[in-house]
Amino acid sequence: MNVFEGERIILLPVFNVMILVYLGCLLLILYYLYTKNYSYWESKGVPFEKPFFLFGNFAKIIAGKQHISFRIREIYNKFNTPYVGIYIFNQPNLIVRSPEILKRILVKDFDKFVNRKIALNEDVDPISAHTLFSSQDQTWKNLRVKISPVFTSGKMKLMLPLMKECASNLVNYVEKHSGEVIEIRETTKKYAVDIISSCAFGINSDCFKEENSEILTVATRLLDFNSFVRSFSIFSFFFAPKFVDIFRLTFADKFASNYLINVFNTTMKERKKQKIVRHDLIDLLNNLKQNETFNDNYKFDDIKMASQAVSFFSAGNDTTSMTISFTLYELAINPEIQNRLRQEVRETFEKHGDFTYEAVNEMKYLDMVFNETLRKYPLTTFLNRKSATKYTFEETGFTLDEDVAITVPVGALHYDPKYFPDPEKFDPERFSDENKHKIVPYTFLPFGDGPRNCIGQRFGVLVSKVALAYCLKDFAFEKAAATSVPLQFEPRSLFMVNKKGLYLRAVKL
Ligand code: HEM
Repeated sequence: MNVFEGERIILLPVFNVMILVYLGCLLLILYYLYTKNYSYWESKGVPFEKPFFLFGNFAKIIAGKQHISFRIREIYNKFNTPYVGIYIFNQPNLIVRSPEILKRILVKDFDKFVNRKIALNEDVDPISAHTLFSSQDQTWKNLRVKISPVFTSGKMKLMLPLMKECASNLVNYVEKHSGEVIEIRETTKKYAVDIISSCAFGINSDCFKEENSEILTVATRLLDFNSFVRSFSIFSFFFAPKFVDIFRLTFADKFASNYLINVFNTTMKERKKQKIVRHDLIDLLNNLKQNETFNDNYKFDDIKMASQAVSFFSAGNDTTSMTISFTLYELAINPEIQNRLRQEVRETFEKHGDFTYEAVNEMKYLDMVFNETLRKYPLTTFLNRKSATKYTFEETGFTLDEDVAITVPVGALHYDPKYFPDPEKFDPERFSDENKHKIVPYTFLPFGDGPRNCIGQRFGVLVSKVALAYCLKDFAFEKAAATSVPLQFEPRSLFMVNKKGLYLRAVKL
């Protein structure tokens, strides 16, 4: 052994130890930088849920063990304060429990909370970036003003014949399977996809006839929570915006969005060529573009137009189909409510000779049942906003920093016995004329509230009520051996989706 070899043998362990020390120091620094946010709420004097390293308060959700709605409800129920601080990964998020403060955020001081805390990456995902849902500040205001006339009651009335055509297809399908147990969620999804394809893309999809309907596959792929990539992407858009940039994620599935853009562009060209008028969403969007003036604050281009149609398609199919299926489920396990509703549906049909727009809106009990379904199963179990500036809550004197995420715990409010006694009970009477004024404002928020509420509410309600009226007039929906009572929700989904499907027997009367 020469002298240098001897030195190497002595230096090697020292070198290894130094690397370990450096690595250890680096990890400690990273740990310190990551966890230093975990003292944020304490330093602000806000009651908070103790976070765990890395995932903050959402570990069970990220591990796929608990639905987000149940986790938020669990935290909401643990506190009795106007708001609770939580951490998603290491980012502070404020769950607001007080209806008075919610009123400030959603309505009174809306201009300080205009935007959702949601990732935007126009280069990677221009479709999502241009939707009404994701747009920000003045761009959102201009777009909302422009699109609002698309959803007036007059326009809904004109679209009703298209909806009735799809409802007839739904009823024919149910009739064909009378006496059998059917998966109601898939059935109502076909109906909703037919309607939204017809209204937003001008195409007759007829999902009930086509065994392997392409558009139904696209609708499923668009926001498919069974896909790990899609769940991860959507979760990241809301809660981990850095991942959206790092992994270049898109909110909706790229193949499905591109397919819909193609359909939209082809239909637009056809309409122009053949001068077809159908009074559907595509016509209305087209009219908005045609009537643009030089001074318009917001101007549509091809991608912005397609973006609205894609967002109507994704916002409009799962929301309505799930609400219809949850209503049928509750009616099957509450037959006396179902019978009372059927009586109303039949009397109204006899009076008007058809399900006209007026007839659908006249059915009070249908409205009560529908609202109670949305109370028990709010599709969007939380709303999300962020503070545009520093903001002091008058009620408590607490000052919220700029750009902090706010969660409105819709699902938790709907199950708070203080506002809805015996919350597990399906009780449409909560929404009767005598009782509905007792509901505390800002505790029932299935469509959100304020200027940024659901723009498609009228459309969604009409589509759902038409389906329910058509189905209940001639069919009874019954619990079967395969019906899961109570429902078990799929923890990976942002929506409330039953894990094993929703099976009911439909019987022609
Ligand atoms: C039962 C059916 C539906 C439910 C329960 C529902 C629920 C909601 C909720 C809770 C929001 C967030 C509101 C807020 O943050 O305050 C929302 C936003 C929105 N919804 Fe719906 N929705 C339904 C149907 C529809 C339909 C049919 C469409 C379109 C055709 C639609 C389009 C939208 C859009 C574009 C937004 C974003 C509005 C904005 O940011 O200005 N929704 N919806």
